[in-house]
Amino acid sequence: MVLSEGVHSHPKCRRQVVSRLALLLTVFQLLIAQSHITQASDAALATLVKSVVTHELRDCLLVVMWDAAMKDSSVVAIVTAFPNVKQVVEVGARADSGLEGVVWNWGGLCRAYLLLLADPAPLHHQASKAPHDHWDYRGRWVIVGLKRDQLEALSLTTKGRKTDHLVGVIKTEDDSGRYEVLHNLLYNDRILEGVFSYPSNSVLYSTTIYSDVHITDGSPSKKNNSLKHRVMGHYSPPHITSVNYQGTVFPEKTRDFKGTNISVVVFSIPPNVMVRSEVAKEQEDRYFGLDIQVVRALAKLFNFTLQFIEAPPGERWGRQLENGTWNGMVGLLGRGEGDIGLGVLYITSLGGRQKFQEYSAPYDNDVNIVE
Ligand SMILES: *[C@@H]1O[C@H](CO)[C@@H](O)[C@H](O)[C@H]1NC(C)=O
Ligand SMILES: *[C@@H]1O[C@H](CO)[C@@H](O)[C@H](O)[C@H]1NC(C)=O
Ligand SMILES: *[C@@H]1O[C@H](CO)[C@@H](O)[C@H](O)[C@H]1NC(C)=O
Ligand SMILES: *[C@@H]1O[C@H](CO)[C@@H](O)[C@H](O)[C@H]1NC(C)=O
Repeated sequence: MVLSEGVHSHPKCRRQVVSRLALLLTVFQLLIAQSHITQASDAALATLVKSVVTHELRDCLLVVMWDAAMKDSSVVAIVTAFPNVKQVVEVGARADSGLEGVVWNWGGLCRAYLLLLADPAPLHHQASKAPHDHWDYRGRWVIVGLKRDQLEALSLTTKGRKTDHLVGVIKTEDDSGRYEVLHNLLYNDRILEGVFSYPSNSVLYSTTIYSDVHITDGSPSKKNNSLKHRVMGHYSPPHITSVNYQGTVFPEKTRDFKGTNISVVVFSIPPNVMVRSEVAKEQEDRYFGLDIQVVRALAKLFNFTLQFIEAPPGERWGRQLENGTWNGMVGLLGRGEGDIGLGVLYITSLGGRQKFQEYSAPYDNDVNIVE
């Protein structure tokens, strides 16, 4: 900065220059602090992700994906170095083709997907629009970089609500540089209601927060570490490089559905499913028969509530219409309106209906003779 003699010598102007310099210095300091937080925050994130992968995904075949905005994160370098990585995919910018090329089933007992995403659109599209076999309901998903509401939206998609483990690593919105690890509740928000008394607006995630990664100072968490809030570790760089790992972010969810509503698509097909037409639709005893008994036993065993839906009259299993969509039971299952279908099903690739449904183990058999 060059100032003329005259201006310099004026006392008022000098004060102004000094205060401007002070201001510049403050802004500069802020910028340094900011970039320090961003780097430290990225390092904290890398530590956290490494910890999750080491503790919980070590025995899984791992697919890693990231989008352009997350490319430079140090998390990328760390996760791609894991020996169990089977595939690395850069997610494209287009929502409808962003996840192309992903192999959805590498086999094995455990499959995991680690996604570093700033843009939720491609994943959201995959979860709501892609064919059912272009997804892994049983895989362990860890999604880093989305915002809480974007994670919630993902968990509410047709595929999301039936995916066992959608774990999100999100940055808290309070600018503290903290990350939280949240997990979805299988099927819907109602599952854990009453188990944890959490505010009605936090519908999808249990308030169980597995991590509390501080990067601004090393002081102990001021939060109330009650049962609902498990602190996984504190991180104050550059001294601590590991996270105290407690608990699991992949709890067993299918042994107890906690009374959640599971909808069962039915139509009359004696003796497996019979309908007492004189009993109102809301009454459970409207339905009886062999398949109904099986599903009632399952509901008891796995603690879910049955909600019967009748396929539209005459449509039964359903067929593929001219425009490619399905009606009947297959249509209801495929659109996510029903969870279980009953009715003397046999496994067939007829019209590709197996794309919409997975079959139970056989529990009855029948012989057909075609003359
Ligand atoms: C911490 O949480 C427990 C259980 O929710 C509650 O009883 C207790 O009062 C809380 N303590 C503080 C200091 O908020
Ligand atoms: C079934 O779920 C309900 C609702 O969450 C719960 O209160 C109950 O303890 C569960 N029953 C069993 C046997 O686990
Ligand atoms: C199940 O569905 C019924 C009727 O739609 C509703 O009243 C009830 O609250 C639901 N139960 C659960 C556990 O979500
Ligand atoms: C397909 O055709 C059926 C029957 O005509 C109609 O009800 C449905 O809305 C159509 N779906 C689409 C996506 O065009």
